[in-house]
Amino acid sequence: MLAIIGGTGLTQLSCLEISHRRILTTPYGEPSGPLTFGHIGDKRVVFLARHGYGHTIPPHEVNYRANLWALHSLNLTRVVAVASVGGIRADLTPGTLAIPDQIIDYTHGRKYTYYEGTDKPVSYIDFTEPYCQLSRESLLEAAKRANEQVIAGGVYGATQGPRLESAAEIIRLERDGVDMVGMTGMPEAALAKELGLCYATIAVVANDAAGRGTSAHAIRLEDAHAVLQTAMVRVKEILVRVVEFDAD
Ligand code: HPA
Repeated sequence: MLAIIGGTGLTQLSCLEISHRRILTTPYGEPSGPLTFGHIGDKRVVFLARHGYGHTIPPHEVNYRANLWALHSLNLTRVVAVASVGGIRADLTPGTLAIPDQIIDYTHGRKYTYYEGTDKPVSYIDFTEPYCQLSRESLLEAAKRANEQVIAGGVYGATQGPRLESAAEIIRLERDGVDMVGMTGMPEAALAKELGLCYATIAVVANDAAGRGTSAHAIRLEDAHAVLQTAMVRVKEILVRVVEFDAD
């Protein structure tokens, strides 16, 4: 079964034939909402809206640990996350889709690990490749089958939010090598890794990052919203095909 985490602009998966919803509790608290189970074609899929189904949970208040734990408790292995970003690299213009291959964490104060307390031995996870190559490749192949252009690779910078960045912060992020900036990539990717989940992200560029292009003077949120609405139709075309790579 494939898990899909929907972000801003994707609180419902219209291509999913819903069978039931289930409320799960975890040792880490409540996930963002009930898990939605169903099928895309003949493949089983579970969907979770990261910000809640009414988009009420801001990025810094998402219970990432509960979300990933709930999905992991279903014994599934593959998670595809959808996340909106601001584009920093010149080719990451609004409406562009990208499958990042690296990440830099600028968040703070979030519950970012399952390894805490004194009852467990200290564990380190390898994070050289933060995203699962298998999931990334299936997303790229699904995009090809859907005839949708996506950019393969790129560095995702995870900022704290909920405010957007200043123009100077974007210059600094670019100097760091960041290509796209979003608020939810971390600790989601690291927690997925801790649980051994094969996790990849499809990033949807909602706007030029602060100080760039159409956002030279300000980020126009209404425009970003409209871009996301259109882009999510294309994302769904990819998701419909990415399930084909799942065993069941
Ligand atoms: N910055 C951070 N997160 C975002 C942006 C942005 O410009 N656009 C969408 N999510």
